[in-house]
Amino acid sequence: MDRPQFAYFNHEIVPYSEAKVGVMTHALNYGTAVFAGVRAYWNSDRQILYLFRALDHFQRLLHSSRLLRMDLGTTPEDLLESTRRLLTREGLHQDVYIRLLAYKADEVIGVRLHDLTDALTIFAVPFDHYVANDTNAHVTVSAWRRVDDNVIPARGKITGAYVNSALAKTDANLAGYDEAIVLNQDGHVSEGSAENVFIVRDGVLVTPGWDDNILEGITRRSVIELARRELGLEVVERSVDRTELYVCDELFLTGTAAEITAVTRVDHRPVGDGKMGPVTTQLRAIYYDVLRGCNPRYSGWNTAV
Ligand SMILES: Cc1ncc(COP(=O)(O)O)c(C=O)c1O
Repeated sequence: MDRPQFAYFNHEIVPYSEAKVGVMTHALNYGTAVFAGVRAYWNSDRQILYLFRALDHFQRLLHSSRLLRMDLGTTPEDLLESTRRLLTREGLHQDVYIRLLAYKADEVIGVRLHDLTDALTIFAVPFDHYVANDTNAHVTVSAWRRVDDNVIPARGKITGAYVNSALAKTDANLAGYDEAIVLNQDGHVSEGSAENVFIVRDGVLVTPGWDDNILEGITRRSVIELARRELGLEVVERSVDRTELYVCDELFLTGTAAEITAVTRVDHRPVGDGKMGPVTTQLRAIYYDVLRGCNPRYSGWNTAV
């Protein structure tokens, strides 16, 4: 992956090579950081880069930061401004992934959240597909369980918790699968390593609820709205049993990075007839138009850089 040219660091834009932290940094030692992953899409007809639901991502970042007792002294609007400045400086004319990282910056020994200094950095890299087989992914139900709200809250994008995702993802990949679906402590479907999960059963779109130890995904929220408004589908947020993955008609994963990834096999069982289904196909078409600012009904989700 290409390195960025610049980063937002210590309240200014600096060459990426100058955005450095020491090895004693608290967040590096204890996982005490939160992050946002935002995408911007290049619309080549209009020659405009559009951020997708940036303010929603920034609001969620501030919520995550509260979980770690951070006071960033900033607003979603300020974060948008800093992100725009950085992207303008990078001058990328292609699809981009932007990472905002808020972290405990002190170089001290001692695990805690209080009496520490909070810092923020932003960087952006060109980005294409995240899951290679996004129309026919093969997933496995992981042996790892999702972190519980009373262990490390999954509703926050907390860096330390991504060890849980990494364990699941690596075991899945090394066993030949594209992704892992992780169950929560009570055995219900939680989410993928970095995606929310949807199934279609008898024409109803079903996804685990906010109380199933999921990240409250922004793509998930978008897909629920698009399914209701554009396809007239009934959408139900409820606990999903593991075996519903084996008997559902369609299955897909959603995430900023993964977008809408069709899953056509779970643990060597075909999903439905083993091909990407009609609901997934339609939602992908609608969603990809929306992302690039091509659907005026959702232009409020696109911010020109
Ligand atoms: C664990 C986890 N679940 C779900 C998602 C999807 O969230 P979003 O659609 O907001 O990107 C992500 C994305 O980063 C994630 O890391």
